[in-house]
Amino acid sequence: RFRVGVLASGTGSNLQAILDRVHGREADVVAVGSDKPGARALARAEALGIATATFPGADFPDREARDTAMAQWLRSEGVELVVLAGYMQIVTPTFLAAFPQRVINVHPALLPAFPGIRAVEQALAYGVKVFGVTVHFVDEGVDSGPVILQRALELPDVTDADEIRARLHPVEHDLLTSAVALIARGAVRPDPEHPRRISVEVQ
Ligand code: GAR
Repeated sequence: RFRVGVLASGTGSNLQAILDRVHGREADVVAVGSDKPGARALARAEALGIATATFPGADFPDREARDTAMAQWLRSEGVELVVLAGYMQIVTPTFLAAFPQRVINVHPALLPAFPGIRAVEQALAYGVKVFGVTVHFVDEGVDSGPVILQRALELPDVTDADEIRARLHPVEHDLLTSAVALIARGAVRPDPEHPRRISVEVQ
């Protein structure tokens, strides 16, 4: 089966969705890494006997060194697709070179609006009425890679960031699990004429 590695910094609800809905079916999650020792995401993986490792910034001289070690570990586990599921670090070009066109990210906004950290707060401050989620390939910019799946959520009256995040989470889980399954079955392809345009063949 298609081998997936997940990087997560936090609670790992997106990782859990992948474990519940995709793991052992379209793909196997074979490695879960974090920059944060003690991240709840790691415990979720350990509970299923999945290999885990932590790569805290403080253990490495710089980001290149961290990403080199992380990429080597993921490669050694046979990972074919890396999923950033609430991984709150920017991956370096060195990391991306180890997994060309094979790193995806879930972001809690409708890109290209509100890239970077605190996307929900940015959207609230702007006063938008429509929020949303994007799953995209990771390139060398910040949340700037080609879009794979996107879904809008109208929340015209909600002004609390935590409530918006809570409403977006199920959308993230749906889109991210769909994207992993689609990539595993080879249904996600860049258009050779327009590499930013990703065709998704939904059965
Ligand atoms: C998710 O909302 C994800 O979109 C966000 O972190 C959260 C992780 O939740 N990622 C980013 O903001 C990336 N810039 P989880 O730990 O419950 O999966």
